[in-house]
Amino acid sequence: MQTYLVGGAVRDALLDYPVHERDWVVVGASPEQMLELGYQQVGKDFPVFLHPETRDECALARTERKRGHGYTGFAVHCDPGVTLEEDLLRRDLTINAMAQADDGTLIDPYGGQRDLAERVLRHVSEAFVEDPLRVLRTARFAARYAHLGFTVADETIALMAEIVRQDELAHLPPERIWIELDRALGERNPEVFVEVLRECGALARLLPELDALFGIPQPEQHHPEIDSGVHTLMVLQQAVKLSDAGDVRFAALLHDLGKGVTPAGELPRHIGHEHRGIRLVKAVCQRIKAPNQYRDLALKVCEFHLHSHRAMELRGKTLLKLLRATDALRRPDRFEAFLAACEADARGRKGSEESPYPQADYLRRAREIALGVNARMFPNLQGKAMGEAIAGEQVRRLDAGRPNLRQPS
Ligand code: CTP
Repeated sequence: MQTYLVGGAVRDALLDYPVHERDWVVVGASPEQMLELGYQQVGKDFPVFLHPETRDECALARTERKRGHGYTGFAVHCDPGVTLEEDLLRRDLTINAMAQADDGTLIDPYGGQRDLAERVLRHVSEAFVEDPLRVLRTARFAARYAHLGFTVADETIALMAEIVRQDELAHLPPERIWIELDRALGERNPEVFVEVLRECGALARLLPELDALFGIPQPEQHHPEIDSGVHTLMVLQQAVKLSDAGDVRFAALLHDLGKGVTPAGELPRHIGHEHRGIRLVKAVCQRIKAPNQYRDLALKVCEFHLHSHRAMELRGKTLLKLLRATDALRRPDRFEAFLAACEADARGRKGSEESPYPQADYLRRAREIALGVNARMFPNLQGKAMGEAIAGEQVRRLDAGRPNLRQPS
């Protein structure tokens, strides 16, 4: 029996990239032998074990053949005769199909090192198409390594397009799609994830509401980049600069969905796109089962991003409405997330990438003013009357304080 380090750990070590987890493949052993050695079986369908001490994942070498649809529809073949090369052949990308022996020897039958050097994400074999999740994985790896110069090989894009054409993505559970999207949003260049999905046609299947933005013009005066899809990806890039939080990046991605359904006669203007977008954001979140925190922020940013941009023109009443709608008074963390997404929107335009966003501080100061009013100021009031008195005083102070909101205190 022999054990090899495989997959991401080998790839990332060669790339000088941080290694998060170590996966091992075991050749020449049976499940019974593994159990005798103290390994703990975790895989129900696959022969996967945890090492008794390190708790690393150790899988018996296996081959797989497609049996049904989706990423679970596999017939797994595993016996002590399955070779390392056979196991590596079933894997997705050449850079993920290398193994390292105990003595450091690299086993690389499918050109992983060559593709690492050439910065190419390339499928190992035609068996790539047997697992539709690989469309998303490949796009995610492209997002992760884009800054190192990696791109997806044309032949691999062609196979991804084939998976899309066969409608195999329809068999992926929403939870899996969500995990990949969320992980992609956490990468350095999540916009590349979207671009790769678009290139192979997967975006139109997975997120048609987003795909619809490409080719939709906006007024050049506010959007020198013109295209709504291009703008959205620029906003996403800016969101990456402003925040590590997945929900901020997700909100950036969905904030302008309404522009995809602007009546053709109104283009390139998009009056009311914030409201038209709400239904679409809800539909996306429901379909891909986005967590509530992501959904809530995406909805707020969709509906109120123009309010944020125009903060300095808003009267006290509308300012208060905005503060309340974004839960600013009770949840400052959520408000900061909202402001980050709005700032990303303002900067995600050609030529505005470095522009300041004074609206954020303006709104933070407005929040402070509103918080200066509390129930103790109206000892004789209760219930609805109290609520109205507080709101009235908040509006009065906001209106009175507006000139001062512009200057840092
Ligand atoms: N793998 C595959 N097809 C999949 C999932 C995984 O071929 N759909 C293989 C790849 O060889 C991959 C390995 O299993 O390298 C381990 O998978 P995983 O832990 O999901 O990914 P990593 O490559 O380790 O990448 P990450 O850094 O994202 O964890």
